[in-house]
Amino acid sequence: MLNLNIAVIDDDQSQREILSGFLQKLGCKVYSCANGETCLQILQKQCLDVVITDFRMPGMDGMAVLQKVKQINPEIQVLILTAFGTIENAVAAMKAGAWDYLTKPIDLDELEIKLRKIAEHNTLIRENQLLRAQLETGTLVTDIIYQSDALKQILSLVARVSDSNAAVLIQGESGTGKEMIARAIHQASPRRMMPFVAVNCAAIPESLFESEMFGHEKGAFTGAYERAKGRIELAAGGTLFLDEVADIPLNFQVKLLRVLQEKEFQRLGSSQVLKADIRVISATNKDLNKLVETNQFRADLYFRLNVIPLTIPPLRERREDIPVLIKHFIAKHARLNSRPVKGITAEGMNLLMRYDYPGNVRELENIIERAVILARDEYITTAELPLSSSYQPATVTGNTLPEQVEELEKRLIQGALAHSGNVQTRAALQLGISERVLRYKMEKYGIE
Ligand SMILES: Nc1ncnc2c1ncn2[C@@H]1O[C@H](COP(=O)(O)OP(=O)(O)OP(=O)(O)O)[C@@H](O)[C@H]1O
Ligand SMILES: [Mg+2]
Repeated sequence: MLNLNIAVIDDDQSQREILSGFLQKLGCKVYSCANGETCLQILQKQCLDVVITDFRMPGMDGMAVLQKVKQINPEIQVLILTAFGTIENAVAAMKAGAWDYLTKPIDLDELEIKLRKIAEHNTLIRENQLLRAQLETGTLVTDIIYQSDALKQILSLVARVSDSNAAVLIQGESGTGKEMIARAIHQASPRRMMPFVAVNCAAIPESLFESEMFGHEKGAFTGAYERAKGRIELAAGGTLFLDEVADIPLNFQVKLLRVLQEKEFQRLGSSQVLKADIRVISATNKDLNKLVETNQFRADLYFRLNVIPLTIPPLRERREDIPVLIKHFIAKHARLNSRPVKGITAEGMNLLMRYDYPGNVRELENIIERAVILARDEYITTAELPLSSSYQPATVTGNTLPEQVEELEKRLIQGALAHSGNVQTRAALQLGISERVLRYKMEKYGIE
């Protein structure tokens, strides 16, 4: 099967019919055109992969068709048909950007081979673009750092849902790693070789939502000077990530719902129906359920998006992750900034274990990056941690004084253990208690 959209241009009708019949049998979609003008009109509405054009024709000749087509969309490949003995025409066309040429009478096997090359080339280009995009954003390797059971459970769910096409809704405060998890799902899915297209729904003006998502034809509205693919089309075969999904305007929510139900859509200004072959992952830091109750978000769309709900707890509720994240971010930023920083002092670790992180992992990373740059030594000290003025120590969740003291004690022990590489003798020394007391308290607080 060759899944290409091809326009065949020839003023000779029998020639067109032979070619069209052959191409259709290969599995291609064929647009048969008696002249170049017809083909250009089709190009305004359809997405073509290949144009096969005769060289000598009344009106627009093959060379003019080639130039126009390449102007409209350079990704379309053009095959030129020349009569035997006019090879210099073919050479000129190749120089002007034609993919290849064929001499008449056409050898259909040869044509098939050339088309397969084009299909292969298109796939490669696509993969390359994808790879480059991933390298640029540094997301080729999604290394998720964690220690907490909460994240362990989330990642095991990620592994289980990756195979399916089910919609995932990721909820969590700002900076908890929602986008990172969305990318991890994509990377673990059979769609990994296809694009991951992120849309920040809060950043798109309401009036542009439709054209951003569905794309538009040239002239579909004032300002539409060129045809543009929408995000849904760009994500074909891959994953569409709807970030800040709560900010989708109400009037667009209906339209999105229809696309998700029917798996079809149209570009603005086009009647051509396109397949929406996407897996949808959405994320929000708002309480979507509440927005549904107050009619700010459509319930039917909410159920469509929320097939698999995933909630990432804030960092302050999974403090076991703090030490490993600190270690990871110190190494990362020491490398990026060429600093000789190796670690953090015990006081520094204590301070960070007690802090609340309203900005979650992103805030922790910023704190560490800054400290690594400021550090005068191999170890970050409290002097580089700007906790004195703007940083409040963590609010402890316990009610009574003993409860609050216990919580603080637990955090300090976790911090000391992390800092001493889990060597209990050193952690006990640092805390000024005996190893026996340390072990007792670890057991009491369920610290491993
Ligand atoms: N467990 C983790 N391991 C390593 N890095 C993490 C982890 N969690 C978050 N990060 C990093 O923290 C930063 C914020 O993560 P991300 O952008 O995924 O958060 P978000 O939940 O989408 O935030 P927002 O709601 O502000 O959009 C990123 O640089 C990400 O790589
Ligand atoms: Mg985000």
